[in-house]
Amino acid sequence: MPHITVNDHEFFYREQGSGAAALFVHGFPLDSTMWLEQIRILSDSRRCIAPDLRGFGRSSPSTRSVLSMEDLADDLVAFIDALGIEKVDLIGLSMGGYVALAFAERHPGRLRTLALVDTKSTEDSEDAKAGRDAAAGRAAAEGRSGLAADMIGVLVAESASTWIRARLRTMIESTPTESIVAALEGMKRRQDRTAVLSNLALPIAAIVGEHDVLSPIAEADHMAVAAGGALTVVPDTGHMSPIEDPVTVAAALRSLWSEA
Ligand code: MLT
Repeated sequence: MPHITVNDHEFFYREQGSGAAALFVHGFPLDSTMWLEQIRILSDSRRCIAPDLRGFGRSSPSTRSVLSMEDLADDLVAFIDALGIEKVDLIGLSMGGYVALAFAERHPGRLRTLALVDTKSTEDSEDAKAGRDAAAGRAAAEGRSGLAADMIGVLVAESASTWIRARLRTMIESTPTESIVAALEGMKRRQDRTAVLSNLALPIAAIVGEHDVLSPIAEADHMAVAAGGALTVVPDTGHMSPIEDPVTVAAALRSLWSEA
């Protein structure tokens, strides 16, 4: 699997398939392995590319105290520039969705379609911001295991297998604490980007797990209405719908792509 240096940083990415490019952006505090099922299913019709964001997965560690959604989006544009890709079908899950929205605001001409999966366009409430500070303090003091224990229960629906839970634990426990703290700060500072959705003239879809407690259906509905796009609710899944029910999520992505 390849590495590439852009914006003075070494990025790891997965790539499979050929044709029009689909760029998959992972959530927090995860990595590109969360997209393996989508890549396997969809690489028959797309050049599927899933990078590890700055400071995550097998990309180089980050020394930044804040990983802003805007900077992560600009990394992605430099990344597709380096790969010689002009336009992408962009798919972002949760924090990846926040990054995708920043990308859409700053570089709308680089998008063919936009899929927002288990994410939201609204900003953090004051309570959520306080929760980020508490999580960052705990991660810095106690390390990643506590965060993994706290998160896994809310990331997936009750029906999720032990295998899925173990994969998530591996991803979370492999993420450097510095990246966890910096991304929490970046997410805390992000702005409401609902208006971006209303202004984009391209096919947009919101996809959400029926039991997603972190980005509930109401948030997905809010985005779909703002975008005038489709809303897909994935039955019996939580916040990790692309892993919990890969086939339904892949079908929703194919449907979106057929509109372009
Ligand atoms: C994620 O899955 O990326 C995070 O739950 C997003 C967040 O904390 O807002």
